[in-house]
Amino acid sequence: MTDDERPVLTNRQGHPIHDNQNQRTVGARGPATLENYQFLEKIAHFDRERIPERVVHARGFVAYGYFEAYGTIGDEPVANLTRAKLFQKKGQRTDLAIRFSTVIGGRDSSEAARDPRGFAVKFYTEDGNWDLVGNNLGVFFIRDAIKFPDVIHSLKPDPLTFRQEPNRIFDFMSQTPESMHMLVNLFSPRGIPADYRHMQGFGVNTYKWVNARNETVLVKYHWIPKVGVSSMTAEDAAAVQADDLGHASRDLWEAIERGDFPEWELRVQVMSDEEHPELDFDPLDDTKTWPENLFPPRPVGRMVLDRTVDNVFAENEQIAFGTGVLVDGLDFSDDKMLVGRTFSYSDTQRYRVGPNYQQLPVNNAKHADVRTNQRDGFMAHHVDGTGANPHVNYEPSITGGLRQAAYPTADEQGPELRGRLTRARIPRTNDYQQAGQRYLLMQDWERDDLVLNLVALLGQCDREIQERMVWHFLMVENDLGTRVGDGLGVTPQDVAGLPPLATQNLSDEERERLANLG
Ligand code: HEM
Repeated sequence: MTDDERPVLTNRQGHPIHDNQNQRTVGARGPATLENYQFLEKIAHFDRERIPERVVHARGFVAYGYFEAYGTIGDEPVANLTRAKLFQKKGQRTDLAIRFSTVIGGRDSSEAARDPRGFAVKFYTEDGNWDLVGNNLGVFFIRDAIKFPDVIHSLKPDPLTFRQEPNRIFDFMSQTPESMHMLVNLFSPRGIPADYRHMQGFGVNTYKWVNARNETVLVKYHWIPKVGVSSMTAEDAAAVQADDLGHASRDLWEAIERGDFPEWELRVQVMSDEEHPELDFDPLDDTKTWPENLFPPRPVGRMVLDRTVDNVFAENEQIAFGTGVLVDGLDFSDDKMLVGRTFSYSDTQRYRVGPNYQQLPVNNAKHADVRTNQRDGFMAHHVDGTGANPHVNYEPSITGGLRQAAYPTADEQGPELRGRLTRARIPRTNDYQQAGQRYLLMQDWERDDLVLNLVALLGQCDREIQERMVWHFLMVENDLGTRVGDGLGVTPQDVAGLPPLATQNLSDEERERLANLG
């Protein structure tokens, strides 16, 4: 192509740009003029190139692919449990976008940080979009959404020094016993996945499935990587980030570009939709996993990633996931985190991206018919069709416009609920048992790494915080508490007199453990 055949540069108004090197001035050396439309437009647009980064999960990377349904869950038809269309037919494919992320660092922070990883999938189904917004560790720090700003503030940099401070983190965690299961995972090697391809994903919160008879079950989602799980120690991670702060995005991009398409199997755990008093944990508590021997994860399909983004800003920065984005056949549970998350995501996106964020191509429900009476607002660039009468942007109307859809089935779904308005902890908190089981299941080197990491960070904390953390770790598992205590010079006897926190419901088993401390 010769220079003359190349397309001409214009401004946004479609005017050709004749000189992109010199602004308009009075004489070659003279002052600039204010009517310099071309120059002012160029600079003013540049000045607005950045939108706020995500308040959490700022650094991430998007890829595209498809979900392929098995049509079954384990060995039974999936229709027995959910009527969600994307799962029904064996071999049926649904387009999807996925965004992997770290949580605490800013947009250019290290991808080798010790941090949970985000694992957010947007399925573009024929019934509209479904977002499954999860992480790689399977549990979370807290079980009530009202604590989210606090847990995140404690993990974010100090407001004065702008450094992530162990004393702030463990100050909060030492008063938050439900965080122990997450901490045992986060400070083990699993807290630094080798890259995005070698990690699991989990929905973490408890959702529901609804079948054609309106029967509901509780479900938890698991993504299992075909290449296996691989993690880094702090030392491995230091070496990786000395060279490259974005190794995980690079690895994902390069794998897809060379045709080595990453793949995960989606497995689902199912529980009947009840309180399950026979269990020693609450099925709606996101600090717990469901024992796999009792609730085996059963395969329902696989995800393959085969395409990279065309533009990072349009697709990675503007993509917007939310836990409220469900399709027919899927529903929320009463998990108190899930309800809070569902408000938070679209709220932040209206602020971060703008009220019309759902019109953007990456967020648009591209395989469904979208017809709303939503109008106007910042950056509206599309008006939905309203049917026969374009004057009618309201409902109901007898002069045309859109109508409500019929309910998929006649009845409401799910169990009947009764209760008093209250502010109360769930009764079965059981904060330590699963953390202890996780510790015992680790290999020796993983336990050594966990103790090393905890001692290194707690070593920088106030004595009072160290003592309370050793107390918690003794409650988790004697060996863990003793080893962390040894590293800090805190003995079980030093902490034996500490009372349980006012925020705790101790189980009988926990009381017994407490009585034996020291
Ligand atoms: C991102 C809130 C718990 C996974 C976000 C964002 C907010 C938020 C405000 C930024 C969204 C954006 O700017 O587009 C909350 C609240 C929580 C909570 C209030 C608890 C009440 C969780 C949990 C998980 C999780 C338990 C994991 C299961 C994610 C992921 C993203 C994210 C993966 C990044 C999505 C993306 O890549 O764009 N969260 N979150 N969050 N959150 Fe949460």
